[in-house]
Amino acid sequence: MSATLDSIPPYVFYELDDRRAAARAVGKTLIDVGIGSPDGPIPAVVIEAMQRVAAERPLSGYPYFRAHPAFQCAVAGYLERRFGVTIEPATEMLALAGSKEGIAELILAHAKPGDVVLVPEVYYPVYARATLLAGAEPVFVPFLPDGRLDLDAITPQQAQRARVMIVNYPGNPTTSSVSLDELARYVEFATAHDIVLLSDLAYSELSFDGYAVPSVLQVPGAKAVAVELHTCSKSFNMAGVRSAFIAGNRAAIARLDAYRANIGYGASTLAQLAGATAFDNAEQIVPPIVAEYRVRRDAFAAAMNAGGWAVTAPRATMYFWLDVPEAYDDWAWVDALIAGPGVVVTPGMAFGAAGKGKFRVSLVQGADRLREAAAGILGVGSGGR
Ligand SMILES: Cc1ncc(COP(=O)(O)O)c(C=O)c1O
Repeated sequence: MSATLDSIPPYVFYELDDRRAAARAVGKTLIDVGIGSPDGPIPAVVIEAMQRVAAERPLSGYPYFRAHPAFQCAVAGYLERRFGVTIEPATEMLALAGSKEGIAELILAHAKPGDVVLVPEVYYPVYARATLLAGAEPVFVPFLPDGRLDLDAITPQQAQRARVMIVNYPGNPTTSSVSLDELARYVEFATAHDIVLLSDLAYSELSFDGYAVPSVLQVPGAKAVAVELHTCSKSFNMAGVRSAFIAGNRAAIARLDAYRANIGYGASTLAQLAGATAFDNAEQIVPPIVAEYRVRRDAFAAAMNAGGWAVTAPRATMYFWLDVPEAYDDWAWVDALIAGPGVVVTPGMAFGAAGKGKFRVSLVQGADRLREAAAGILGVGSGGR
């Protein structure tokens, strides 16, 4: 039995699932803004491609280990058009069955007991959990007030033991974003300490008000240390398809490839070709998706502000990251929202101890439902703020 698996606390999202199921079992109608799974449809052009390729006999064998040539080509074209980044697809990218698995596998391929993985103090859970599964130690890097990482808080000993450092901008759940200069600072730090820099760019396309999310691979020299993960899940409403890629540092990708070859067969060809179609058509697919999130974001922000709870609309991601009213502890707040107005939110500690005192609202409902969610939150919160 795996001792490392046994030592990991239960996944908070499972606990949330239980509470959701219990409320439904007693007939409660819920407005679920707890999950981060996009509710929009898979783009029509992607559905057509999936139907076409599903019928092609040559595609029904085991997939390529690294990536299907059409996916390689689509990814290279997308990175070039979107970020002005050029990659050599044969060696500098790999298809993944979702970025979550890719992040875990990259960590497992690089970290061993005694090693450190540098993780932002509020984080997407897999960063720390895969580190623990590797028997390595997650060291949580605090944020500066503006959401950048406080690299000065990392001790020389921690930096020396670190194998991987993770950055996630725009961040889930924090919604923070950073400039290319700031990404350059992380590249410099990783270079100085010989650490693989992992940039999780899951929200590359979900940005508003003219803000274009930068890629770490735009930093000159980044490929010497950095890899970046991109996914179809959020940008193209394709979370169930499981199509993603990693691009950047050749040695890190070769190591990930070697790890993956021992446990799987590469990403499904169908998922890769669906992803290829999405990346090829990103310029057409993304704008209506972003426009819908912007309407939702503005509706929720306006309702909260009108109700006297001041919130700032995030310039990227599909989340609001808000303070739990002082009178409540985290689960008590979540439970009060479920029991009262039936609003399901995610408690901040799902994203690490530093997330305590916060909660996340996902924009995975239409504007009207989000206004209702805001009214519910305001109603329960008015007792406790
Ligand atoms: C920051 C971040 N990284 C990665 C993922 C996982 O994405 P994928 O569906 O590609 O595994 C998510 C999903 O919520 C996320 O928020």
